[in-house]
Amino acid sequence: MTDAIQIEHERGLLTLRLNRLDKKNALTRAMYSQLGDALRQADADPNINAVLITGSSECFTAGNDIADFLEQPPSALDSPVFRFMLALLDCRKPVVAGVAGAAVGIGTTLLLHCDLVYVSRDARLRMPFVNLGLCPEFGSSLILPRLLGHARAAELLLLGEGFNGEQAAAWGIASEALGSGEEALAKAREMALRFDSLPLEAVRISKQLMKGPDRESLRKAIEEEGALFIQRLRSPEALAALSGFINRR
Ligand code: COA
Repeated sequence: MTDAIQIEHERGLLTLRLNRLDKKNALTRAMYSQLGDALRQADADPNINAVLITGSSECFTAGNDIADFLEQPPSALDSPVFRFMLALLDCRKPVVAGVAGAAVGIGTTLLLHCDLVYVSRDARLRMPFVNLGLCPEFGSSLILPRLLGHARAAELLLLGEGFNGEQAAAWGIASEALGSGEEALAKAREMALRFDSLPLEAVRISKQLMKGPDRESLRKAIEEEGALFIQRLRSPEALAALSGFINRR
């Protein structure tokens, strides 16, 4: 267990709060394990109606911990990061995200699997996989070209261009962009609590209708991307870029 993930149960809402601010909420293996377990438990618990994934009003997450990538890279598709991805993909209950500040790497791609996403207008989203010698993950190579068209998706995935919360909402990656981090997090909580007053089985069936048709193709994409990502992590290009970040000071 680590207090880098704070888990709160309030009425029917389970909140998973990333809480490792000294490292910009970068996600370690232990954090992925805890997130994956919590999602699976929430899915099975009849007292939980919705899950909220959030960080602080200054930072969502800087993505995978880069030191972890170098010291303990995922080696197989049952590694904690992939188990987390599949837990989110398979979660039958609504998942809401509240995002402010940096949302890098998996901090952006996980949003593609949430149901409602509230961001601050000045949130900084980015998927710098190629820049790090890696390749897209978490189904982003399938979802983003469909959502945005190939040309815009290529700016984000092949160039690693960043974008802000306002753009994320305009492009359909987020439900709404709010004026500040506090407002984005408050709105995400308010909307997540709304599921307490909705008929749960109707919500579950509706999410299944919306997400179900793509689930198997996404699972396949996650596996294909994951196998290449694991290889890329050991490539000279990635080792140079990741060490460059660690030694940048
Ligand atoms: N993994 C490990 N440590 C990270 C990290 C990551 N992904 N992101 C940030 N940190 C650490 C920094 O090393 C620094 O630690 P230190 O104080 O011990 O040196 C601390 O968090 C603060 O980061 P810093 O870069 O000083 O903050 P910033 O506000 O200037 O920038 C970011 C924030 C998120 C823009 C920047 O940290 C960044 O680009 N991080 C890497 C993002 C990334 O490439 N993620 C992987 C995607 S696959």
